[in-house]
Amino acid sequence: MISPNSVDHLLQVAVIEDVVGDYVKLKRAGSRYKGNCPFHDEKTPSFVVTPNMGIYKCFGCQKGGNSIQFMMDIDNLTFTEAARQLAKRYGIDLVETNSENKDAEMQSQREKENLQAANDFALEFFQEQLHRSEEGKTVAMPYFRERGYTPETIKYWNLGFSPSGWDDFYQKAKKLGYSEEFLLSAGLIKQRDKDGSYYDLFRNRVIFPLLGVTGKVVGFAGRIMGKVDKAPKYVNSPETLLYKKSDFLFALFQAKGTIRKEDKAYLMEGYTDVMTLHQSGITNAVASSGTALTPGQIKLIKRFTDNTTIIYDGDTAGMKASMRGINLLLEGGLNVRVVPMPEGEDPDSYCKKLGPEGFKSYLDQNEQNFITFKAKLLLEGTQNDPLKKSDAIRDIIESVSLIGDPLKRDVLIKELEHIFDISSDLIYTELGKELRKVQQNEQKQLLDEVTQIINHIQPENEVIRTAQLTDIYQEKALLRLLLLYGGKPFSEGKNVADFILDEYSKEELFQFKHEETKYIIKHILDHYDSRNWLPLEFFTRSLDSKIVSFAADIFSEDNKLSTAFESNLIYVKQQEDNFMQEIIDVFLHLRRTKIEELIIEEQKKFNDPEENPEDILEFIVYLNTKKLELAKQIGAVVTRY
Ligand code: GTP
Ligand code: MN
Repeated sequence: MISPNSVDHLLQVAVIEDVVGDYVKLKRAGSRYKGNCPFHDEKTPSFVVTPNMGIYKCFGCQKGGNSIQFMMDIDNLTFTEAARQLAKRYGIDLVETNSENKDAEMQSQREKENLQAANDFALEFFQEQLHRSEEGKTVAMPYFRERGYTPETIKYWNLGFSPSGWDDFYQKAKKLGYSEEFLLSAGLIKQRDKDGSYYDLFRNRVIFPLLGVTGKVVGFAGRIMGKVDKAPKYVNSPETLLYKKSDFLFALFQAKGTIRKEDKAYLMEGYTDVMTLHQSGITNAVASSGTALTPGQIKLIKRFTDNTTIIYDGDTAGMKASMRGINLLLEGGLNVRVVPMPEGEDPDSYCKKLGPEGFKSYLDQNEQNFITFKAKLLLEGTQNDPLKKSDAIRDIIESVSLIGDPLKRDVLIKELEHIFDISSDLIYTELGKELRKVQQNEQKQLLDEVTQIINHIQPENEVIRTAQLTDIYQEKALLRLLLLYGGKPFSEGKNVADFILDEYSKEELFQFKHEETKYIIKHILDHYDSRNWLPLEFFTRSLDSKIVSFAADIFSEDNKLSTAFESNLIYVKQQEDNFMQEIIDVFLHLRRTKIEELIIEEQKKFNDPEENPEDILEFIVYLNTKKLELAKQIGAVVTRY
C-alpha cells in the first residue's frame, strides 16, 4: 500500500489542471476550467476542473475525483498504478508500505518497465549507429541529408540507423545484459525456428523512433533506403504493452503544444511528411502512419483540438483515405477541412518543391471544408450528369448527418446549397432521412444497453422506491455546507458541524435516504471530533475513492444545485457570508420535504382495508403539527442570527 502521506504529497504536486490538461482541452471559466468530458461524448462542456480543490467533475456522466482518480478513470488503472504513474511523471518517491501487491498488476508494471528499458537502449543504439558507425556515416546519414533533413531535424526526431549485419543489435544488447525475453517481447529481435538462434528485426534500415504522448519511445519504424521492390518499404515494431497501433499518432508528442496553441492539427499519412512540415515550421502536423485512421487516434487528437485538416497524398489511395477519414473525424465530433495535394505529390515532396513559405501559402489558399472537397472530387469528370450529381449530394449529406451539432450542420448546408445550386428544402428532406437512420442506430444501441442493464438487476422492492422520492440534491446540499463550513462557529461553543450532526442524530424524521449520502455521513461521524473540524483535504485527498468523488461532486457544484432545488426556492449561493442562512434554509427545507413525504405516504394508507383510518388520521395530524412547528422554527432560527 502507498502511504497516506505519500498520496497527500503526490496530490499537492500533481496539480489537477495539469494532469487533466494532457487529456482534455480546458478553457478557463473564472476560478475553474471547463472542457468536454473525456469519459462520454458531448458537444457542450459539462466537465469542470476546480484547481484550488484539486478536483474534477463531469455534470454529464457524474464522474469526478482528484488527480489519481482521473488517471484511474481515463487509463483504466488501479489506484496504485495511477499513483505510481503520476509519481513518476512528477518525480516523486512514493513510500509504499508492505507490498502485498505481488499480483498481476505488479507483474505488468514490471513488464512495461523492462520493455521501456529495451526500447530506451535500442533508441540509443540506433542513434549511435547513425552518428558513429562507418555504415551509418556513409550510407544512412547521406540518405537523410539527401532527403533534405537538417542535422537539427535528425537530432530532434532521434533518427537512427540499424546496421546491415544480422544481429549487431542483439549481440550488443546481450553483452550489456538485456534479456532475450524482453528483447523478443519488445519485438526488437526474432528467433529462428530451426536452431533457436536470434536475429535483429531492423536490418540495414533508417530508423524513425515512435514516441508516445508523454515522449517515451514505444516502438520504431525502419525504412528501407534503396529501391522498394523486394522488401517492404517500412518495417514496424509489433504491438506491445507500450505500443498499440490503433491508439498511436506519430509526432503527437512533438506537435501537441502547437496543436493546442493553434487549436488545429494537420493530419497526414507518413513519417516523412510530418518531419518535413515540422522542419518548415509547421509544427502541428501528425501522422496516422500507414494504418487507416482509427477512432482511438481521433480521440487522441480531440484531447488537444476540435479542428483537423487532412492533407493526404495526391493519389487515388490518398483520396480514398481522405473520404473515409472525413466521415470518421466528423463522427468523432471534429471539424474537418482538407487540403488536396496535386496529383503525384505528398506533403513531403510538395513542401520541398515549394519551400516553407510557398507551402504555407499553398495550405492557406487551398484549405477547404470537407463539403467543397467532396463535391469537387465526386463531380470530377461527370459532365454535370444529373444522376451523378444527386449521388454526390446524397454522399455529402450522409457526411453532414454524422455531425452532432445542428448549428454546424446548418452552416454546412448553406454551403452545400450554394455549391450545387439546389434548394435547401431538398437538402433538409434528405438530411432528415439520414438523421433518422443515425438516430435509429443510436436508439437501437441505447435500447440494447438498457435491455442489458435490465437483465442484470434484480426486481426492485418497495423500500427502494420510496427512498427515491427524496431529492438527493437536498441531502448533498447539506453535506456540502457541512464540508465547507463545518469548522465555522455557529452558536456559543458550537460550530456548524456540531449543529448539523447534532440535529442529524437526534431527529428520527430526518435521516439521509441515499446510499451515497449515508455513506459519507457515516464516514464523517466516524472521524468527527467536535474540537477540530475535518479539513477539506480530508475529503479531496482521502484514500477512499467514494469519498473523493463525492467531494469532487459537491465542491464542483455551480451556485444552483439543481432545477429541482431551484423550484423549491432554495438557492445555494457561493458567498461565504451567507452560509448560516443557507444551512438553516437547507436544513429546514430538507426536514419539511421529509415530513411532506411522510404525509403523502400516510394518506395512501386510507385505501388499505387493513389499516385503521383513525390511526392514520392521528399520525397525519401529528405530522402536520411537526410541519407547523417547523414553520415557526424557521422564523425563530432566522431571528436568532
Ligand atoms: P517516403 O516514401 O520515404 O516519403 O515515406 P512515407 O512515410 O511518405 O511513405 P508512404 O507515403 O509510402 O506511406 C505513408 C505511411 O504509410 C508511411 O509513413 C508508413 O507509416 C506507412 N507505410 C508505407 N509503406 C509501408 C510498409 O511497407 N509497411 C508498413 N508497415 N507501413 C508502411
Ligand atoms: Mn508519402
